[in-house]
Amino acid sequence: MFGLEGGVLAGVTIGPSPLLKINQSPKRYMSMDRNNTAQLQLFEFWHSQSSSKSYITKVHLSRASQPGKRDLLSDWRQEEQSALCPYSLHIQGSVMAEEAKQTCYEGSSVQSFQFYLEHSGEHEAILKCAHNLLPGEFQRIAAGKSSLDVLGVGSGGGEVDAQMLTLLQSTLPAVPVTADIVEGSAALTDNFKALVAKTATLQKIQFVWHVMGSEDYEKQVRAKGDMKKFDFIHMIQMIYYVDNLSSTIKFYQSLLKNNGKLMIIVEAADGGWDKLWKTFKKELCTGAITEYRSSAEVIACVKSLGLKYEEHVISNTFDITECFNPSSTNGGRLLNFMTAQDHFYQSFTPEIRAGMLDLLRNKCSTEKDGRVFFNSNLSCILIHA
Ligand SMILES: C[S@@+](CC[C@H](N)C(=O)[O-])C[C@H]1O[C@@H](n2cnc3c(N)ncnc32)[C@H](O)[C@@H]1O
Repeated sequence: MFGLEGGVLAGVTIGPSPLLKINQSPKRYMSMDRNNTAQLQLFEFWHSQSSSKSYITKVHLSRASQPGKRDLLSDWRQEEQSALCPYSLHIQGSVMAEEAKQTCYEGSSVQSFQFYLEHSGEHEAILKCAHNLLPGEFQRIAAGKSSLDVLGVGSGGGEVDAQMLTLLQSTLPAVPVTADIVEGSAALTDNFKALVAKTATLQKIQFVWHVMGSEDYEKQVRAKGDMKKFDFIHMIQMIYYVDNLSSTIKFYQSLLKNNGKLMIIVEAADGGWDKLWKTFKKELCTGAITEYRSSAEVIACVKSLGLKYEEHVISNTFDITECFNPSSTNGGRLLNFMTAQDHFYQSFTPEIRAGMLDLLRNKCSTEKDGRVFFNSNLSCILIHA
């Protein structure tokens, strides 16, 4: 939740606790004041780890010579002012609009995701697939090459990346490896860095950290004209969040080197997530995810781009029995993550909640020995260079 604390709007001293920069690149947001005579540019969002709130720390204010026309940044800087109070209401409104576009995990979503990982067996299922599939793939990708470059997009805390990179090194011990990581969550990137620091098998890998969303990375690569190419690119459980599915796949596929592979792991078509999110699209697709994508949408897109691919099913189920006990904290937390809410019980009407729970039990799960197991099969799609 974006909010103001500590009373001062501009400057990095807002709030009672140290702030962490969220976005590497400035976020710009344009808005008019009530009289349509001023434009505001907000940039740099900071996140307070202790209060789990985000703050604007720089606000550029400009009186536009012509209402509706954007001034040059240099003009704006001249008017960087403390005269922000009259605009604070308006600014908060703007920030709320900006918040909806934030897809990378910060604050409560980091804890919610961590909780989900501990209860879903998802990483274990993905790693089983990786161990079956990747050694052979790595051998094919590496044929005739003296080094390998890997790109992880939306890598989160890097638990899966670390294991895949370890697997790559044990498959091809003599081949030097670099790993570029594109992840917009500063908190999860810090977790990933800490994991690298304590993992002996990763010490020889040269990491390059891009703490930004995939879209900003793409823009940066295009602006620099510096197309570093990669042998293996992976996007694990993150394709739901990108602005444009087709252009994203096209872009990352274009970064593949000879014999390279782009691996996309996504919820399986017709699995539990697909049914839940498509049935309750109106209620659920309102935040970071505006259009739910399962392997069906990804494969349709890959086909429409004329790309060569293969698909591997990753079977997984997890126990959601607690979700049907309204007084269970763990059940509530699972429901929070599965519906991308902070508070499942406060976010929907009783009718919608009942409909979701009914669907979860009767259409998305199977029952065994009195327990309810949610179908969370995944699909691993390997796209060729
Ligand atoms: C479900 S998590 C998956 C993390 C990791 N790949 C895993 O499987 O553990 C989704 C990740 O995508 C990141 N993310 C969301 N939107 C993104 C974007 N536009 N560009 C890059 N990463 C993004 C989130 O911050 C989060 O780390």
